[in-house]
Amino acid sequence: MTEYVKMIIEGKEYEFPVVIGTEGERGIDITTLRQKTGYITLDPGFGNTGSCESKITFMDGEKGILRYRGIPVEDLAEHSTFKETAFLLINGVLPTRAQLNRFSVLLNDHSLVHEDMQIFYQNFPRASHPMGILSSMVNALRSFYPVLQMIEEEINITVTRLLSKIRTMAAMSYKISRGHKVVYPRPDLSYCGNFLNMMFDTPVRPYEIDEDVVNALSVLWILHADHEQNCSTSAVRVVGSGRVNLYASISAGIAALWGPLHGGANQKVIEMLKMIHQGGENVKKIIERAKDKNDPFRLMGFGHRVYKTYDPRAKIMKKMCHRVLNKFKIEDPLLDIAMELEEAAVNDDYFLERNLYPNVDFYSGIVLRAMGIPTNMFTVMFAIGRLPGWIAQWKESVDDPDWRIARPRQIYQGQQVSRYIPLDERG
Ligand code: CMC
Repeated sequence: MTEYVKMIIEGKEYEFPVVIGTEGERGIDITTLRQKTGYITLDPGFGNTGSCESKITFMDGEKGILRYRGIPVEDLAEHSTFKETAFLLINGVLPTRAQLNRFSVLLNDHSLVHEDMQIFYQNFPRASHPMGILSSMVNALRSFYPVLQMIEEEINITVTRLLSKIRTMAAMSYKISRGHKVVYPRPDLSYCGNFLNMMFDTPVRPYEIDEDVVNALSVLWILHADHEQNCSTSAVRVVGSGRVNLYASISAGIAALWGPLHGGANQKVIEMLKMIHQGGENVKKIIERAKDKNDPFRLMGFGHRVYKTYDPRAKIMKKMCHRVLNKFKIEDPLLDIAMELEEAAVNDDYFLERNLYPNVDFYSGIVLRAMGIPTNMFTVMFAIGRLPGWIAQWKESVDDPDWRIARPRQIYQGQQVSRYIPLDERG
């Protein structure tokens, strides 16, 4: 039975249905608000606005819970692989062995990138940021691999193409930026192993694949794989709502992720830690700057719109950080600085009162550094990890018969109607 809430607007009573999620979240369905009352809602940053109903990811920001299709992210990080998690997110269920094998074959079949695309890469200015390149190149895929019809089979091929090619394209941009020969994907390697090999194999120094690094990368990508209606995912859904193709929607998601308040934070965290290490700042000063309202600086890798406790992904990432560094006997001074910063922040009233804790980006950069990933590629790593989530969310929208173009309203605060003044009459 539908529940309703009553709202009194200008003395008149209205009823609006309550939508209750499977985990008990409650939302007021205001679809008819403007039509019935003439009012709209104003919610900058959408902190109180549900943009859709979704079956993909559940988060509880107060308890620090994250589940993909009902499965806790901790279980997936421990038992699954990134490829299997991608299948789960996109298709809604864990694959059978046969389905996983078929998925692997398809990912292998679609892993090559059209040779002509290399010309684009070679002509980007050398200092271009890899996120700008990735966003452009994903958009360009539409010209090389047009989607003919929006039918299930063709959508599945497009989805697999994108999942497979993104790692080839990311590694390609790194190789070309270094002036090295592009390394092609290999059918005998796993999804993650292939990426590492395409990044680091050279004709003079063959890359030795270490299963611990492969597993660490798989976990890192699982932790990034989806996060419900965050900034980049909302960008994918909003852009897609105009019924543009998948490549263009994902390209928009990559552009949104690039921002330092979103996925770009992983690069900014390492830059901040390096600044402290090189003596440009110290932990105490950084904390004071982050608290100073006259300083735009924020403690990067801290805080989250939804999590008001420790980000569950950050917990796993921190453990993995220690594991990877121990395994390779790496002593990274940035890890010590990060832990010192965390300790100082979580014991400081400013951060406590605002529930600001480390998020996924706080420790991920140290893991990526240990793998040999250059700092300017960190956000690209986030993007590869987030791709299955973006695709799953886009597909969910496409499959929704009531999907409407995203078109928020506004409260206009500008000049009221005024006369056009001819140029000669202006002072
Ligand atoms: N350092 C210092 N103060 C902070 C920080 C921070 N990192 N984050 C939030 N605050 C303060 C903020 O100034 C505000 O204080 P007051 O109430 O006195 O005005 C209060 O905490 C609430 O912050 P908000 O800006 O209203 O929070 P938000 O939900 O709009 O922003 C956020 C969330 C993640 C953008 C923000 O916490 C932030 O800028 N963090 C640093 C960047 C970062 O690490 N981003 C990665 C997010 S997780 C990965 C991802 O999903 O992309």
